[in-house]
Amino acid sequence: MSLQIDILSVLPELLESPFSHSILKRAKDKGLLEIRVHHLRQWAINDYGQIDDYQYGGGAGMVMMAEPLANAIEALSQPQPFDEIIYLTPDGEQLNQKIANGLSLKGRLLLICGHYKGIDQRIRDKYVTKEISIGDYVLSGGELAAAVLVDAIGRLIPGVLNDETSALFDSFQDNLLAPPVYSRPAEWRGLKVPDILLSGDPRKIEDWRHEQSLQRTRQRRPDLLEGEEEH
Ligand code: 6GU
Repeated sequence: MSLQIDILSVLPELLESPFSHSILKRAKDKGLLEIRVHHLRQWAINDYGQIDDYQYGGGAGMVMMAEPLANAIEALSQPQPFDEIIYLTPDGEQLNQKIANGLSLKGRLLLICGHYKGIDQRIRDKYVTKEISIGDYVLSGGELAAAVLVDAIGRLIPGVLNDETSALFDSFQDNLLAPPVYSRPAEWRGLKVPDILLSGDPRKIEDWRHEQSLQRTRQRRPDLLEGEEEH
C-alpha cells in the first residue's frame, strides 16, 4: 500500500523542508509515500503569471481564480483520478485522528492551499471533495496546514512505523491522551520515576499506563470521554 500526495501552492518554498526529515523521510525512502509540490503559477492565465483577481461584490483582498485551479486539477488528475481533492481552509471540518486514519488508507490525494481571500467558490463546488481546517485560528495560507495534514497522514500509512514507534499507542488513537513517559536516570535532581515502571511487571505497567491515560484525559480533555465511560 502506498500513498501519492500532490500539493497545489502559490508558495511551494514553504513546503520544501517539512517532508524531508524523520518519519516522513523514511516513508518516502521506503516508497510508501510520494509527495509532489506544484506551483499554481504553472497554470497562470497569462504571461504575467496571473492566478488571482478582485472579488465580485467588492471588498479587500484577492481571490484565487477558477481557471488556473481547474486546469491544474484536470492536468494532475491524469493518468489516475484523485481519491480526494482536499481544500485546506479555516471553514473546513476540523482535522482529527479519525480523519487522518481514513486518509492514510487512500491511494491519491490532492491538497489545495489557499491564499489571499481564498479560492473561487465554483472550484469548491465542482472539484473539492473534502474541506479541512487544522483548528480555530487563522493562518496566512494553507501551506502550513497542508504540512500538518501530510505529517498526520504519512506516519499512519501501513508499514511506515515499526513496533517501536507504533501509532497504536499514540494519544487520540483510542480517544485517550498518552500517559507520562520517563527515561534514565531513575532519580534526577531528587525527582523519581514512578516505582511501578521499574517493577518489570508488564501487566501492572500496562494497567498503570491506562489509568494515567484516563486520568489525564479526564483532567485535560473530558470532551474525549463523552459517550464512552466504560473503559
Ligand atoms: Cl487549513 N488554512 C488557513 N489559512 N488557516 C487555517 C487553517 C487552514 N486551519 C486553521 N487555520
